[in-house]
Amino acid sequence: MRKIGTGQEALSDDQLQALVNRDGLPRHVAIIMDGNGRWAEMRGLPRIVGHREGIHSVRDAVKVCRELGIYALTIYAFSIENWQRPQDEVKELMTLLEGYLQKEMSALMEHRIRFKTIGRIHRLPESVVHWVRQAESATSANDKMVLTLALSYGGRAEIVDAMLKLYDDLQKGLFPKESVDEALVGQYLNTADLPDPDLMIRTSGETRLSNFLLWQMAYTELYFTPTLWPDFRRRDFLQALIDYQQRERRFGRVKNRIRPRRVVRQG
Ligand code: IPE
Ligand code: IPE
Ligand code: MG
Repeated sequence: MRKIGTGQEALSDDQLQALVNRDGLPRHVAIIMDGNGRWAEMRGLPRIVGHREGIHSVRDAVKVCRELGIYALTIYAFSIENWQRPQDEVKELMTLLEGYLQKEMSALMEHRIRFKTIGRIHRLPESVVHWVRQAESATSANDKMVLTLALSYGGRAEIVDAMLKLYDDLQKGLFPKESVDEALVGQYLNTADLPDPDLMIRTSGETRLSNFLLWQMAYTELYFTPTLWPDFRRRDFLQALIDYQQRERRFGRVKNRIRPRRVVRQG
């Protein structure tokens, strides 16, 4: 959870941004944007209002990444399990998504951001698929940043799809069984062209992965905050980055330290 009283509350946005070390930035940030429904319900509003408000936070996150030079941002926007929500909410979410794609195109082009999606996109309504494909192809040559939306996405489903495809290729004799290793499996995932996330942020106080990037997050630093997604703005993103930069990533090795001096025995 977010640390209480870090002293950062009194800092201006610029001062906070100055605390971010430009040399130690994550290359890939993944976000589970959660808490839109609760944000609206707390105000006696329909859940969709929270989803709509959350779009401002998406824009802030994209903007901060683009400004700081964080190459990849992946946002969990709709899980495979979310299809089980009431039909009205799913429908409204799809309409919102379509509107977002249409509205965001010019900004993505202007800032040279490539748009991509991961997940079982074919399950989305036809008009959404149309706008997704449109955005992906129009932005495909943009080279400053990659914004990925996980839509109709499930980590386990992704692994199943990868296994089936890999099995097919093995059957076709495209490579020997002995050449199957972690790197090759990674190539069969939706995220083949992205580095693994260095930092994963989940809002709303839930401390679970909810089937997000299960393979890719083997060594990702996890950041959980009680802030609800519509309230998670620029400052909150900067605070998450500062927190990330205070961590030591060991990847199973021992702490990085100066080699101890040899003890000279007396006598
Ligand atoms: C996250 O907010 C957005 C989606 C899952 C689409 P929620 O809709 O899960 O909001 P809560 O968790 O119910 O507050
Ligand atoms: C995870 O949020 C999925 C997205 C943010 C798209 P949920 O709100 O659906 O997750 P659970 O149900 O709390 O695990
Ligand atoms: Mg939720």
